[in-house]
Amino acid sequence: MCGIIGILGSEPAAPRIIEALKRLEYRGYDSAGIATLDADGAMQRRRAPGKLKNLDEALASDPVTGDQGIGHTRWATHGLPTQANAHPHVSGPVAVVHNGIIENFRELRHELEAKGHTFQTETDTETIAHLIAANMKSGMSEIEAVQAGLGRLEGAFALAFLFEGRPDMLIGARKGSPLAIGIGEGEMFLGSDALAVAPFTNRVVYLEEGDWCVLSRESYRIFDKKNAEVTRPVTLVQGAGAAVEKGNYRHFMQKEIFEQPDSTARTIGAYVNVLKQTVELPGEGAAAIDWSEITSLQMIACGTAHYATRVAEYWFEQVAGLPVKTDIASEFRYREPALPKTGGLALFVSQSGETADTLAALRYCKEKGLKTAAVVNVPTSSIAREADLVLPTLAGPEIGVASTKAFTAQLSALAAVAIAAGRARGTMSRDAEIRLSRALTELPRLISTTLLLDESIARLARDIAKATDVIYLGRGVHYPIALEGALKLKEISYIHAEGYASGELKHGPIALIDEETPVVFVAPFDGLFDKSLSNLQEVAARRGEVILISDAAGIRAAADAPAHRIELPDCDPFIAPILYSVPVQLLAYHVAVEKGTDVDQPRNLAKSVTVE
Ligand code: AGP
Repeated sequence: MCGIIGILGSEPAAPRIIEALKRLEYRGYDSAGIATLDADGAMQRRRAPGKLKNLDEALASDPVTGDQGIGHTRWATHGLPTQANAHPHVSGPVAVVHNGIIENFRELRHELEAKGHTFQTETDTETIAHLIAANMKSGMSEIEAVQAGLGRLEGAFALAFLFEGRPDMLIGARKGSPLAIGIGEGEMFLGSDALAVAPFTNRVVYLEEGDWCVLSRESYRIFDKKNAEVTRPVTLVQGAGAAVEKGNYRHFMQKEIFEQPDSTARTIGAYVNVLKQTVELPGEGAAAIDWSEITSLQMIACGTAHYATRVAEYWFEQVAGLPVKTDIASEFRYREPALPKTGGLALFVSQSGETADTLAALRYCKEKGLKTAAVVNVPTSSIAREADLVLPTLAGPEIGVASTKAFTAQLSALAAVAIAAGRARGTMSRDAEIRLSRALTELPRLISTTLLLDESIARLARDIAKATDVIYLGRGVHYPIALEGALKLKEISYIHAEGYASGELKHGPIALIDEETPVVFVAPFDGLFDKSLSNLQEVAARRGEVILISDAAGIRAAADAPAHRIELPDCDPFIAPILYSVPVQLLAYHVAVEKGTDVDQPRNLAKSVTVE
């Protein structure tokens, strides 16, 4: 998604804007731009398609001056990723950068063209610049023009405005896309998130839904959606700046895969009381979940987070005896779900906490009167702020667009919640509670052991990288891990991959099997292994290239089948899907490296999809 930075500073703004945009690169983008005001208050703008280095080069050959400005990384929604469509967009004295989608921009554009405005681009954002400029032309001040303009916009937006001749003013607005104020010493900032302003301050004010704000270097004013002046809490964001480095790793994704012993340990440590060998959930009073009153669980998420809910579905039903429905967030509210009038709990899973579809589903469930809880990695995010209860993952900032450590942290948290639910609902013996809690505390060590397979998986990846299609198969709780493995591969290596329930192979997908098609089996030696072994032999009989991810017993049982083998340490079946996520992450990573794709910022993708 797009990234926004605004600076009212006391030193040249351009290099600081570039530094902030570099911290927003992880969101995914395809062009970038900057606008500043020079010493006379005149607007200067530079924009470039592609990566930030292209904007850097444009600034090197044609510098801008001034201590104040706005910057943007664009993830194209309307119009090609060209220089002309790159933000900031300008009309008269107004420059604006935008994250989101203006759904009524065509209607506004026609209205403005009728007033004589001529448009240079295909973007929805340019309409905003002309709208505010038209308001100013009618005699409004900058503040009045923005206030009136915001009332005309439909859709989602985070905005930052800079005005020619006003070197001590920035105006920001937030509706559906996050925006924060950074408070400096005699300086003021606007950013899409705390990472953007981390180089300049750790004092952050998160705008609420519908808020807009007027900044000067010394102060800021915040107005709510009814234009009443409000105050919002100042948050001290610790360490946001430090976590953005790759260290000795080649990619953020690689670093984050190898962080998983620590990230799962932190998350598990927040839920499992090792001394009491039980799980203690956060939340008190009304925010706490009384699982004995919950009669149905709805889990809603997107992408990898959705696959985490698909794994948790098995846990909640097996451990807590709780009927579960999982939904892809973009489908959920449009299917007009028959939600329970009482006893319903809606659980949302999101790394960023800003995914538009998931946030919209959360708001839908709240309107329907369901209690809501959210497993999120960003405690200050919109989803975290709007859910009744936050169930945090402590994975730390995840920069790679492909989710890895957040996924295993989500699974760790969901596993702990399932244990707590089982205990509260009386569906789990104390012995089982002890066993499952202990299994969770074993996980970080087992991940460390599994990471030792990295080199052998890298060797295997060289072969897989030649494929044009790969199939992932899994049974039971490992079926969602097959889905996740396929998603990881396709989103970073661009190789087409599909995940299927192994039992489905004979119902169509087996037609795809030939010697060119690698088939990855995610199959520990559990109660379903014999069936998986039959499927494996059906693939081998058609000369499919088999990759078996299993444990020692599974590898032995499949000894006579022609297959590449990835042997994981033995583990409790309860945590197996979390552990078996690691080899499929490593396989996708090394295939992508082999193919030379942009591992951390794969083409067309954004880290947080804040548009529907
Ligand atoms: C995961 O590798 C993908 N980048 C994507 O599917 C992601 O999981 C999805 O967009 C949901 O994001 P969220 O967890 O921030 O809501």
